Amino acid sequence: GCGVPTRLSFAELKSEYMNQSYFPVGKTMHYTCRPGYSRHPQIKATVTCLGNGRWSEALEFCKKKSCGHPGEPENGRVIATDTLFGSTVNFTCEDGHRLIGQPHRRCEISGARVDWSGDVPICERIPCLPPPDIPNGRHNGVIMEDFSYGSAVTYTCDNGLQLTGEASIHCTTKDGVNGEWSERPPRCGDVRCPVPQIQNGRRVSGDSRVYSYKDNVTFECNPGFTMKGHSLSQCQTDETWDPPVPVCEEVQRCPPPPTIDNGKPSVQAWDVFTSGMSVNYHCDPGYSFLGEASLHCTASGAWSHPLPHCEAECVSPVVGNGRTNGVQLPYRPRDVVVFECDPGYTLSGSPEIHCQDDGRWDPPIPICEKMQRCPAPPTIDNGKPSGLALAVFTSGMSVEYSCEPGYSLTGQASIYCTASGTWSPLPPRCEVSERFCITPEIPNGRKVAGRRPVYRPRDTVRFECDPGYTLNDSRPIQCREDRTWDPPVPVCLQEK
Ligand SMILES: *[C@@H]1O[C@H](CO)[C@@H](O)[C@H](O)[C@H]1NC(C)=O
Ligand SMILES: *[C@@H]1O[C@H](CO)[C@@H](O)[C@H](O)[C@H]1NC(C)=O
Ligand SMILES: *[C@@H]1O[C@H](CO)[C@@H](O)[C@H](O)[C@H]1NC(C)=O
Repeated sequence: GCGVPTRLSFAELKSEYMNQSYFPVGKTMHYTCRPGYSRHPQIKATVTCLGNGRWSEALEFCKKKSCGHPGEPENGRVIATDTLFGSTVNFTCEDGHRLIGQPHRRCEISGARVDWSGDVPICERIPCLPPPDIPNGRHNGVIMEDFSYGSAVTYTCDNGLQLTGEASIHCTTKDGVNGEWSERPPRCGDVRCPVPQIQNGRRVSGDSRVYSYKDNVTFECNPGFTMKGHSLSQCQTDETWDPPVPVCEEVQRCPPPPTIDNGKPSVQAWDVFTSGMSVNYHCDPGYSFLGEASLHCTASGAWSHPLPHCEAECVSPVVGNGRTNGVQLPYRPRDVVVFECDPGYTLSGSPEIHCQDDGRWDPPIPICEKMQRCPAPPTIDNGKPSGLALAVFTSGMSVEYSCEPGYSLTGQASIYCTASGTWSPLPPRCEVSERFCITPEIPNGRKVAGRRPVYRPRDTVRFECDPGYTLNDSRPIQCREDRTWDPPVPVCLQEK
C-alpha cells in the first residue's frame, strides 16, 4: 500500500481521508483546489496508489486564478509580469510626480474570489512653496495659486535697479518627492557678502576688500589643524557664503591602533595617526572580516568603533558525486552543511558537519563513494546472518548475526558492506553459552528421556543403545552448574 500522498501547493486532499495514513494499492484519492486556484477542466484531480508503494504523479490539475487588470494611475503606470494569484504589481509615477498610497498591489484571496489588495495609488504633481519675495523686486507668479514641478517664475527689479543672479527660476526636485526652486532668487541691486572669517586658518585665494556675487574664496587650515567642510566657498545672491565657510579643527593624535584577535592593523612602527586618518586591518589566513575592516582616528583623538572582527572561515565543503544544502560563502562557525550523495553513491562519513570556531569542519567533510556490491555475508559456525533472503548486498547495508540456541555471540553482532565491497568488521563468533551444557550425543545410541533444545543445570538425560550395543554406564546424566555432565556422558560399547 501507500502512505499519505505528498502535499501539493495548489490542492488539498478531501477531508474524508484526513485521519488515514495507509491506503491500499489501487486506491484513488480526490483533491480539491486550494483557495486562489481553480480546476483545470481537462485534468483529473486524483492520484492513485501504484503497486510499488508510490502514488501516481500529481498533474497540475488546479491553476491560479487571475485578478484581472490591476488599474493604472493617471500620470503613472503599472509594472506587472502577470496578474495571477500570488503575484505583485508595482506602480511608478511619471517624472515630476510623487506616488501617494501603496506602490504595490498583490493578487490575494478575497472571499471566494481573488482580488488586488489596496487601491490604485495616485500620482500627484510635486508641489513647490511659493517663490521667495525679494526686496525692491517682484516675480511674475503673483497671480498663480499653486506652484508645482516645472512651474517657472521670472523676477524683475523696481526703479531700474540692476538684477543680480538668475532672473528665472523653476520648480524642480532632487529626491523625487519634495519640490524646490532651481536657484536662489536674484537680488535687486549690488550683492555684498561679508568678509569670510576662518579661525586657525586663512584665505589662500580670492582676497579682496569687497565680495560680490559669484566671488570665490579658498581656505586652508594652519598646521596642526584639519578642515571640516569645503575649502571653496562662493558669494550668493542672498549675501551668504555657500558652501558655508569651513572650520579648522585641531588635529589630534590617536594612540597606536588597537590589536585584534586573529588579525592585525597594517602599520609600520613609525606610523603616526592623526584625526581623519584611517588604518586598515587584515585577518590571519583562514579568517575574514565580519563587518568593517578599518578604523579611523576621530577628531577627539580616539579610534572609531567598533573594532574590526576577524572570524574563522571554514573551507567550502565540496563533495564529488553529491550535493550540499545550498551554497553560502564564506562558511562561519556554527554553520551546518548537510550532504547527500548522487544515486549509485554512498556517503562515507557524517551526513551533517558543523563549522567550528577554529575553522575546522566537525565531523570532517564526508565523501561519496561509488556503491559496491559485497559478496554474501560470511557464514559462521552455530549462527547465521539476517537478510540472507536478499540477493544483492551493496555498500552501506548491514546484516546482523544471531546464534543458535545454546550459543552466545561474541564480537560485533552487525557487520556492514563497506565502500570497497568487503564486509567489516569480522563477523562475530557463536560460542557455547556459559549457562548451558553441551548437547550430549552418543554414537550407536539415542536419548530416551530428557531430550531438549538446550540443557540447563539440573536437566537430566537418559540414553539407550542400538541393538548389539550396551551402555558402559546406564545411570542418567545431569547437567551441573559448571557445565559438565555428571556422571560423564556414557558410550555404547559393542557387545562381545
Ligand atoms: C479525525 O480525528 C479527529 C480526532 O482524532 C476527529 O475529531 C475527527 O472527526 C476525525 N476526522 C475525520 C474526517 O474522520
Ligand atoms: C516590484 O518591486 C519589487 C521590489 O520593490 C521587485 O522585487 C519586483 O520584482 C517588482 N515587480 C515587478 C513585476 O516588476
Ligand atoms: C564410560 O565411558 C566414558 C567415555 O570413555 C567415560 O568418560 C566414563 O567414565 C565411562 N563410565 C564408566 C562408569 O566407566
